[in-house]
This record gives sequence, C-alpha cells and structure tokens, in this order.
Amino acid sequence: MCGIVAYVGQQEALPIIIKGLKRLEYRGYDSAGVALLTKDGLGVYKKKGKVSELENHLVEFADLSSKIGIGHTRWATHGEPNDVNAHPHYSASEKFAMIHNGIIENYDVLKKDLLNKGYVFHSETDSEVFIKFIEDIFVNNHCSLEEAVRLALHKIVGAYAIVIVNKEEPDTLIAARKGSPLVIGVGQDEYFLASDATPIIEYTNQVVYLDDYEIAVIRDNQLQIKTIENVETNPYINQLELELEAIEKGGYDHFMLKEINEQPRSIADCMRGRLDAKNGRLVLGGLRDYMNKFQNAKRIIITACGTSWHAGLVAEYLFEEFARIPVEVEYASEFRYRNPVVGPEDFIIAISQSGETADTLAAIELAKSKGATIFGVCNVVGSSIARATHAGSYTHAGPEIGVASTKAFTAQISVLTMMALKLGYQRGTLSESRYMQLLSELETIPSKVERALKLNDKIQVIAEKYKDSRNFLYLGRGYNFPVALEGALKLKEISYIHAEGYPAAEMKHGPIALIDEEMPVVFIATKDSSYEKVVSNIQEVKARKGKIIAVVTEGDDTVKHMADYIIEIPDTEEAFVPLISVIPLQQLSYHIAVMRGCNVDQPRNLAKSVTVE
Ligand code: F6R
Repeated sequence: MCGIVAYVGQQEALPIIIKGLKRLEYRGYDSAGVALLTKDGLGVYKKKGKVSELENHLVEFADLSSKIGIGHTRWATHGEPNDVNAHPHYSASEKFAMIHNGIIENYDVLKKDLLNKGYVFHSETDSEVFIKFIEDIFVNNHCSLEEAVRLALHKIVGAYAIVIVNKEEPDTLIAARKGSPLVIGVGQDEYFLASDATPIIEYTNQVVYLDDYEIAVIRDNQLQIKTIENVETNPYINQLELELEAIEKGGYDHFMLKEINEQPRSIADCMRGRLDAKNGRLVLGGLRDYMNKFQNAKRIIITACGTSWHAGLVAEYLFEEFARIPVEVEYASEFRYRNPVVGPEDFIIAISQSGETADTLAAIELAKSKGATIFGVCNVVGSSIARATHAGSYTHAGPEIGVASTKAFTAQISVLTMMALKLGYQRGTLSESRYMQLLSELETIPSKVERALKLNDKIQVIAEKYKDSRNFLYLGRGYNFPVALEGALKLKEISYIHAEGYPAAEMKHGPIALIDEEMPVVFIATKDSSYEKVVSNIQEVKARKGKIIAVVTEGDDTVKHMADYIIEIPDTEEAFVPLISVIPLQQLSYHIAVMRGCNVDQPRNLAKSVTVE
C-alpha cells in the first residue's frame, strides 16, 4: 500500500513525480503529495483524493521548478484520508520532508516520548512520528542526517520504504527499506526512486533493488548503499525487461478490461519456453535444483491471500490428483499467527502477484525459520517474495494494474498446473501416455480462453439484467469450487454487491435459505465428474425460484432448459477448466461494476499491493 516516487537529476522533478504517482496509484489513492526543493525552500504540497486532485491544487503555485523532489500516493493506515494525514511529512524544523510506505508498529511509544520532549504533531500518522524521531536523533547526536536515519532504523519496529529530502543538501536523497519495496533507477546524471519500476521505465532500464536493512544515499550524482550496520555494499545493477506499452491502457477503457482480454497471451507467455507438448518436455527452471525435495515432500503447504489463495485451492486439487502428495492451503494471515506444525520435510509454495503482500512474506519467513523449503510463484520480477524464497517460477503475466486480479490468477494456475504435471510424471503417479495427453491439452488453453472471451456481448446482457441485485451466490464443485469463490470476490470488490462463493453441495446446509426470486445464482456447471450432482443443485435452486446463470460446457443440452441464462465455454480436461470458466465471471463482474458507475480499476478502500498486515 502507498506508492512512493522520488527524483534527483537534471530534469524538472515535478512532472516526473506526478507521472510516476499516477502509475503507482493502484497502490493507494486516498491522498497524494509532493515535496520539492525550490528557490523558496522546501515546500510540501498535498491533497486528499487522487493524484489529479493534487495536480489541480499545484496549479495555484506559480513556480515549482525544482530538480529534486519526492512524492507519495497514500492508502490510509493511521488516520483518515485527508490533507493533513497525506504525505510527505515535515520534520519539526521543516528542514526535512519524508515519504513513507509501510507501517511503524512502535510509533505509539516513540510518539509519547517525543510528546514529552515537547514535539507537536499535526497528523495522526505513524510517518510523522518517524521523521520527527529521526530529527530528534539528528539534533541530539549532532550527526549527519544519514547517520540519524541509520540510528533511528535500529529503533524502528515495522515495515518501511522511505525517502527523505533535506533543505540543506539540494543534491541529496536518502532512502531506506525494510519490508516495503524500493527500486532505484540509475540514469545518466539522474536517479529515480519508486515503489516499483513503472515510474522509472521510460527513463532508464538500469535498476537497483534496495534490500531490507539497507540505506541508499544519492549525493552529488553518486549512489552509495550501506547496511544499517554501516557496512558499504556494491549496488547490483539489474536490467529491466518491462515494456512501456505493458503499463498503458492501450485503447481499453480500463486496465481490468485490458488485463481480462490479455489472458490468451499472458497464459501463452507463462507457458512459453517451458511447455513443449510435442516432445513431452516441461521445464520449470526454478524447480531444477529443488525437484528432489519437491518429489519427496511429505506434504505441500500453499500459502497466499485473496485471489492468489484461490489459485492455491485449484493447485490443491491439481497436486493431489496428479502427484498424490497431501496439500494444505493456508491463508498466509492465519498461518503466520497460529504456531503451525511445519518442518524440513514440508515444501511450501507461496503465491503472490505483487510479491509484496506482508502476510505472505511473514508466512514465508516463519516456514523458513522452521527449515521448510519455500518456492515462490510471483508475477513481479525482483519483488520481496521472489527474493525471500529459496526458488520459484515467475508467472510472466506482465504488469497487472487493475486492483482486481484477473490475468495473474490464470497465470498462477498455469504455473501450478505445470508444476503438478511435472511432479506427477516424475513421481510416476501420472503415466507417460496420460502425461503426454495432458501436455497437449494444456497447449490448447490460450486459444480456448480466446474463444471464451468472445462471449462478452452475451455477458453484457446478463450484467444489465442483474446489475441492481443486492446479493449474488456463486456455486461450483471440484475444480470449479475455487472458481466460484473467485467469481464472488471479483464481483464484491469492484461492484460492492454482496456475493458469496460456496461449494454447490453445501447449499443445503444453510445458504439455500437465502434463495428467493430476487437471488441470482451463478453455477459453474461444466461437464465434469460432479456435473450430475451440480445439475441436481441447479434444480434445487430453480424449485425455490432463484435466478440461474450457468456456465456450462459448449453443447450442453440439459442445463439450458433450467437456467435463465447459459454461458457456453469450450470443453477441456476437468483439471484445466478453471483457466476457462473464470473468464466469463471476470467479465460479468467488470460489466456490472461499469454499469453501476463504480471505479473498476481503483475500487474503494482497496489497494493492489497489501504491504500492511
Ligand atoms: C483480488 C485481489 C487480492 C489479491 C491479494 C493478494 O482481486 O487482487 O485479493 O489477490 O491481495 O495479493 P498478491 O497476489 O499480490 O499477494
């Protein structure tokens, strides 16, 4: 949560920062602000709302030309979204200004101490405490700002990515991180700092990923990195492979729509160079050194949050069916706090689009401390989770900017499917012929997803019909149960309609009481091993006058006579159905949200990268 951007160099800082903040708005959009060193001194300008509100506000100021500045877009943690709580925050003397992404757990104690010393606080934020704490050390120790930051970080408990600008050093930025991401772009006589690479990409493709407990000082056009123990490290320059067009809307009304439609390509990208069905080859580079551990694991534990957790549920079915290893799927937020039984014989798979989710990161650290092997399935290259795991496979879905996850979900399932097939084959639980058959079918998925996307017009009609419903139920069994959960999550997060996903057979144990003529029920009823049972569940809802929207296999002749609307998707192997059946559910939630006038890409109260607990 929260996006930070900073610039120092030869260009005008403000346009670079504003453009960067717009790219990072997916991380939070409660308020935005900048601090610039101009001829008039160190000015802080901030506004509640989106970056565009800040831009309008900045028009009032005649001259904001500056070659150095910092900017922030906020997802509120401490204190309501308003101008005062917006970042940057000044230090008490207004000599320093700071932006912060993260959460300081011991801010209360620090604040009490500072209050006793006579400090005054204007905001309710932990971040204002942070910068005032740094200045207090700076004043009392008569040291440099850099040293004050270093000393302060030894006392700070929590997560942070910070950048500080100092009124008295107009060519200097000081940054540090622990737990929240920070990328430094290295240009020709200029440096860019940001929460991810998207604000940097059009200026340079050379980046340094700052590590936890590292402090970067950019002074006089030189970058120096030290640990908080004051040990200098050699910055490792990575080459970015991100394309600018991947982070633009490309003619679509919303990023979410673009990302839904990108899925044939993103799934193909995920399989490219890994799957060669003709020659029976399936190569996942990240698994190579860990295949032995994977194959001999007593148990696989999958940990993730939200949509990534749903992908983990699909993987549970895949691993158990094909590789016959018991699987547990854990919400990272629960796993990390319940003293789980984990050990060296467990193989942990952590799934995360952003690679920054705080709960997933903490679950990884916990499992690591108990000797388990951790494998990451992440989308964002170089992210914290990708670096905290022993090995991993990237999903290669490309940047996902819409807050609601779509193409990351199908890419995660694609990677997990390849892992399950490889594991089953290596363990001998999948015969050679079945393995070959499954690989061939997997290769057809991108074109089948392409066909499923063509149902868009029909789905718009369904959306129009049910857009004003107050509740929705999503029901499925087997591989389609996690899809039901995902369909419900998509709808609630972007349209604010209450929706619940359930295993269809569980209906009779409670939720069937909700059914009346007002209740749309989305069944995922594809031709699979539980098809007949799901058809019975459809009858039960029909008998109670519920409205039925059914996702069925092309050519289905049974459900058509029961459902109010049917959506026919291409047939595939039962285990691969989620990759296709989720598509119409993503489209349905998208269209309903648009018709209800909701902000599809930036739904209320949410942020894409959940770097707080
Ligand atoms: C839902 C959604 C969230 C994320 C969750 C985990 O559309 O996007 O539920 O899936 O916050 O995020 P990552 O995958 O980045 O760890």
